[in-house]
Amino acid sequence: MIKKNNLNPIKLIKYYKLINYNLIYNNKAINRYKKDNFEISADKTDNLEKLKKSILSINGCDIKKNAMNMVFSDGNPKSKIMFLGEAPGSSEDQEGLPFVGRAGVLLDKMLTSINLDRKNVYISNIINFRPPENRRPTDEEIERYLPFVKKHIEIINPKILVLLGSTAMNALIGNEKVISKVRGNWIEKEYGNCKTSVIVTFHPAFLMRQPAQKKLAWIDLKMIRDKKEKLKI
Ligand code: URA
Repeated sequence: MIKKNNLNPIKLIKYYKLINYNLIYNNKAINRYKKDNFEISADKTDNLEKLKKSILSINGCDIKKNAMNMVFSDGNPKSKIMFLGEAPGSSEDQEGLPFVGRAGVLLDKMLTSINLDRKNVYISNIINFRPPENRRPTDEEIERYLPFVKKHIEIINPKILVLLGSTAMNALIGNEKVISKVRGNWIEKEYGNCKTSVIVTFHPAFLMRQPAQKKLAWIDLKMIRDKKEKLKI
């Protein structure tokens, strides 16, 4: 056994180098965040409650510490159409509901344009707590919340998954993807036992800054409407 006063870091490094270099110089990041791998049961409400509790028990997350409320979801958990945004803003943080601020007003209009509303879709975000100053979530934050997002998708089990903006797209489709190339296409994906058709479209906040892109978003919305009819949802 190594005595405490013998823990000379230089000597230890030499020793570890001698026996196994990778033991201390492993390039892989250590995942310090607890993954709550509860089994998904047949009871959706029960699963959603368990997921909420898992998210509330995340430790060591600054955005969680600084937020007023967890923003879990809105809409109908029985819906076969799920929308995922990026992260809550200030209005969402205050109300504990996603997309209730200015971007939410536009999202509601987008839903109405294809005869949908919050009673027949399900809405959540990649990150459940408001990042300070509405900054974009960091890669580390996205990585921390991703297992919960995937579990969320698996529980809701949507037939259509709409990713709003590049944060949701990068988190769930791939970091190398570019929204202008990916949007307007259906991508078949599996999250656990959930097989779903994914479409990426522009985030409503981006459309408010770039209204000229609304014509492309309208193409995506019509694709969602047609898919919904085809799948008889
Ligand atoms: N932007 C998002 O991505 N999500 C919200 O809930 C609100 C604004």
